[in-house]
Amino acid sequence: MKKLLITGGAGFIGSHVVRLFVNKYKDYQVYNLDKLTYAGNLENLRDVENADNYHFLKIDIVDEEAVFKLFSEHRFDGIIHLAAESHVDRSIANPMEFIYTNIVGTVNLLNAARQSWKDDMDQHLFYHVSTDEVYGSLDDGGYFTEETPYDPQSPYSASKAGSDHFVRAYHNTYGLPVVISNCSNNYGPNQFPEKLLPLFINNIRNNKPLPVYGKGDNVRDWLFVVDHARAIDDIYHKGKVGETYNIGGFNEWKNLDLIKLLCKVMDNKLGREAGSSEKLITYVKDRAGHDLRYAIDANKIMHELGWQPSLQFEEGLEKTVDWYLSNQTWLDNVTSGAYQQYYEVQYGE
Ligand code: NAD
Ligand code: DAU
Repeated sequence: MKKLLITGGAGFIGSHVVRLFVNKYKDYQVYNLDKLTYAGNLENLRDVENADNYHFLKIDIVDEEAVFKLFSEHRFDGIIHLAAESHVDRSIANPMEFIYTNIVGTVNLLNAARQSWKDDMDQHLFYHVSTDEVYGSLDDGGYFTEETPYDPQSPYSASKAGSDHFVRAYHNTYGLPVVISNCSNNYGPNQFPEKLLPLFINNIRNNKPLPVYGKGDNVRDWLFVVDHARAIDDIYHKGKVGETYNIGGFNEWKNLDLIKLLCKVMDNKLGREAGSSEKLITYVKDRAGHDLRYAIDANKIMHELGWQPSLQFEEGLEKTVDWYLSNQTWLDNVTSGAYQQYYEVQYGE
C-alpha cells in the first residue's frame, strides 16, 4: 500500500483529484489534508468519503507544528500539493492570507517532506500544483511555454510564483524530488461561486446582474476540471523529476463571448426566452491590474506524456451548467453566510 498525501482535497480541483485517485488506485491510501476554509467543502467528496482507502485530515498547512507532527506519524510516498488561497479578487483585498498559505504553507510542507524523506529521498515525489498566472499577461500573440519567464502581476500570482520558486530551490539545493505543473483556468462542478462561471450561473438562476469587469475583452484559456485531474495523474506517475509541465486545452475565449455563450445555454436550460439572460450583463469597474490574456502551450505534456483533453468546450460547458442546476442545494449552502458578506464588499450590494 502506498501512502499519498493530497492537500486542498476539499476544494474545487482537489476534490476531483482525490476522487480520481481513490477510485482508480485501490493500492493507494489517499490522505486528504485540508483546513476547510470558506472554499473547502467535504460535501464535494460525499461519494468517496466511506471508501477504505480514503482518509481526511483537518490541518492548516501554515501550522508548522501540525505539519511536522503529521509527517512524523506517516511516511508518505508522495504529495500532491493543491492547498492554496486561489481567488485573485480576494488577494487584492487581503494579500497576507495568500502569503501565509501559498508561500509559508508550501515551505512548511517542503521542510517536513525533506526531513521525513532524508534517508531515501529518491523514492518519493513532491508534486506542486501551480497556475499559468505566474507567467504574467500576454497581449494578442504567443503562448506561455515552460520557458516563459515568471512575471506575476497580482498578489495571488506573486504568491504562487513564490511557492514555485521555493519548490525548485528545494530541488536544486537539497535534491528533493519535485515536479511542478502550471494550468490554465479550470471550470466544472464544485467550483466556488466567486469564480466567473459558477458566479454567473448562480446569478442568472437568481435573475441577478452579471458583473463584467471592464469591457469584457480579457481572454482566458478554459479546461474542464476532470481533464486537469487526469493531467495531474499522468504527471504524478510519468512526469520527469525536476521538470515543469504546462496544462491547457488550446481553448481561448474572450470573457464577453464566453458570457454570451453561457447566457444562451442558460436560457435554453431554464426554458427562458432567448436573450433574457444577456440582459443581465452589467459592466462594472475593472479588476485592478487585470491580466489581459492567458494562453497555454500544452505541447510538452501532450507529446511527452500523451495527455489530451477529453472534452470539447461546448460539451463541458453544458455538463457544468447541468451540474449546477441539478445541485442547487450545494450552491445555496455555499452561498449562505460568509459568502454573502464577501459579495457585498466585492460588488457593493
Ligand atoms: P479552491 O480555492 O477551490 O480550493 C483550495 C483548497 O485549499 C480548499 O479546500 C481550502 O480549504 C484549502 N486550503 C486553503 N488554505 C489552506 C491551508 N492554509 N491549509 C490547508 N488547506 C487549505 O482552489 P482550486 O481552484 O481548487 O485550486 C487548487 C489549486 O490549483 C491551487 O493551488 C490553485 O492555485 C491551482 N490552480 C487553480 C486553477 C483554477 O482555475 N481554479 C488553475 C490552475 C491552478
Ligand atoms: O489561470 C488560472 C487561474 O484561473 C487560477 O490560478 C485561479 O485560481 C483562478 O481563480 C482563475 O483566475 P482568474 O482570475 O482568471 O479567474 P476568475 O474566474 O476570477 O475570472 C475569470 C475572468 O473573468 C477574469 O478575466 C476576470 C473576469 N471576471 C471575474 C469575475 C469573478 C469578471 O468579469 N467578473 C467577475 O465577477
